Amino acid sequence: MKHCLDELAVFGGPVAFSQPIHVGRPNIGNRQRFLERMQDLLDRRWLSNDGPLVQEFEHRIAEQLQVKHCVAMVNGTVALQIAIRATGMSGEILVPSFTFIATVHALQWQGIVPVFCDIDPATHTLDVSRLESRITQATQGIIGVHLWGRACDVVGIETVAKKFNLPVIYDAAHAFGCTTGGKKIGGFGQAEVLSFHATKFINSFEGGAIVTNDDSVAQRSREMRNFGFAGYDNVTELGTNGKMNEACAAMGLTSLESFDEFVAVNRRNYKHYVEKLNSIPEISVITYDEREHNNFQYVVLEVSDNLPLSRDDLVQLLFAENVLARKYFYPGCHRMEPYKTSIPDASRYLSETETVCRRVLSVPTGTATSLDDIEQICQLLTFCIQHADAIGKRLRDHAAR
Ligand SMILES: Cc1ncc(COP(=O)(O)O)c(C=O)c1O
Repeated sequence: MKHCLDELAVFGGPVAFSQPIHVGRPNIGNRQRFLERMQDLLDRRWLSNDGPLVQEFEHRIAEQLQVKHCVAMVNGTVALQIAIRATGMSGEILVPSFTFIATVHALQWQGIVPVFCDIDPATHTLDVSRLESRITQATQGIIGVHLWGRACDVVGIETVAKKFNLPVIYDAAHAFGCTTGGKKIGGFGQAEVLSFHATKFINSFEGGAIVTNDDSVAQRSREMRNFGFAGYDNVTELGTNGKMNEACAAMGLTSLESFDEFVAVNRRNYKHYVEKLNSIPEISVITYDEREHNNFQYVVLEVSDNLPLSRDDLVQLLFAENVLARKYFYPGCHRMEPYKTSIPDASRYLSETETVCRRVLSVPTGTATSLDDIEQICQLLTFCIQHADAIGKRLRDHAAR
């Protein structure tokens, strides 16, 4: 607990946390079950190439998401690249700039031109009312992103897609276990893409998957992840190596078994942040629709522009205290290379993206974050905001020296 400005670490005071507190420290799950699976897979000597654990992982995911096919991949980025190819996307694709860079790189990596679309500031997902204005003769598809696990306007996007006969893929890297309109995310569009990266709430160390109800997209994805092989010695098209290995599937399966616990902890953490921060008008915690299933994987704050301390100042103050809060997804993909150079006027269409990028702050959660940690982080934030004028002045004085 800080009592005066001198006690802030940024001004030379003691650091609040002796160890860094990360936004997404991995959830581990049942260590014993994981080690048993590792023993089994070593005994079997089947380490990769569509092994039994990968098949079981795929089966469990498809069952849980009520989708016909799940094709497990080495990571979410390669899964996106393969989904883009397997659905026949080319030319120009509409995509939000407010997403993790992998969504856009996956397009560019295969020579597709991303066309950035703005977001609805209330949901942080594609603003469907502005989608049509970005469509041209060259537009060949749409990628929506269920950011923070909150679904895009899938109905609105499908309506636009139907009108212009465009395929749709959803980047569902954040949305495992979430619903929209009561329906599980996973079955929308031509395909949806999941990530099981270590920092995701269900993890397989590294991993991802394409989920789809389309038989041909599933078949092509399976072949493309395995160099284009359609059977022994028979390569039928361009492929890559996107295979998930058995050790990753062992972790993924173990992680899935703790799904309910992870969601419960994330939810508890989220509620605690809301309770502690809701009396601060300059900070709002993004909301989750209680009528839906949410995984509460992210706790995202929006810092008001009316505060004498900027979001960046708060990051500086928190980092000094060993709270590694993140500016996800600042500054927006359109301000990162190669897009900054190739599409220099993108910000003309992205006013809401620019505003949200300036305001968001993702704070630590997950099973490695205790209620006590959250209590302290909220006390720090409250203290900084109560003394925003004085802290802001002192930060500027320090910077000017
Ligand atoms: C929105 C989004 N899309 C795609 C990815 C890429 O997934 P991966 O890290 O598994 O390649 C991530 C995160 O890592 C992400 O947050």
